[in-house]
Amino acid sequence: MMFIVLEGIDGSGKTTQARRLGEWLSGLLGRERVLVTKEPGGWPGGDAVRRLALGGSLSSVWGEFFLFMTDRCEHVSGVVTPALEKGVCVVCDRYTPSTLAYQVLSNPSIGNEAADYMTGVSEVIGLPRPDCVCLLDIGADAARRRLEARGKLDSFDAKGRDYFERVRAGYDVLMKRSPDGWIKIDASGDENAVFGELKRGLERRLGTRLSGYAA
Ligand code: TYD
Repeated sequence: MMFIVLEGIDGSGKTTQARRLGEWLSGLLGRERVLVTKEPGGWPGGDAVRRLALGGSLSSVWGEFFLFMTDRCEHVSGVVTPALEKGVCVVCDRYTPSTLAYQVLSNPSIGNEAADYMTGVSEVIGLPRPDCVCLLDIGADAARRRLEARGKLDSFDAKGRDYFERVRAGYDVLMKRSPDGWIKIDASGDENAVFGELKRGLERRLGTRLSGYAA
């Protein structure tokens, strides 16, 4: 089994790259051995949680934190773990690093101690550890231009560019804590260039496992 997570700020192109990764892996392993899924909302019943989490009605960052964690626990127990147990390779668009970067590390009023504690929470509840977290790194201004071209600026402008720069810095903190499990990809280029770099990074990191898996 193999569990690959894609992370990055809004507008980093994760969803496109998750789809391309799914197609590439399907070619290597067979379509029935690959699942592309996402958080929040990637489980039956997840739409309601997704709407609540993204609807703007929550006033507490911890309310948001635990809602994203609830979504993750259900997604893992209903979708991710059953797939991994069947030997399916799972590509997940966002996972625990999103909650730690968006809800915790981006928030200047949350200290390091709380951040470490929350990282520990996801470990003690036994969420599966990704084999590789692929960070699609892009600056907030470039990400904003992409979202603008797609007409999807609402949440970006509501939170402000500085928030997204803090989320980006939060990802760097997480990557430094466990460099072995992460690869960082420059996501500012065009779709093909980014996918090329992603593929090479994964081949370097998981190469033997990828071929062992296909065997
Ligand atoms: P996403 O589904 O990636 O965006 P899109 O709808 O453009 O595909 O993510 C939705 C938003 O949810 C995004 O702004 C990031 C945020 N988010 C968190 O703040 N914390 C989390 O734990 C997760 C999973 C997402």
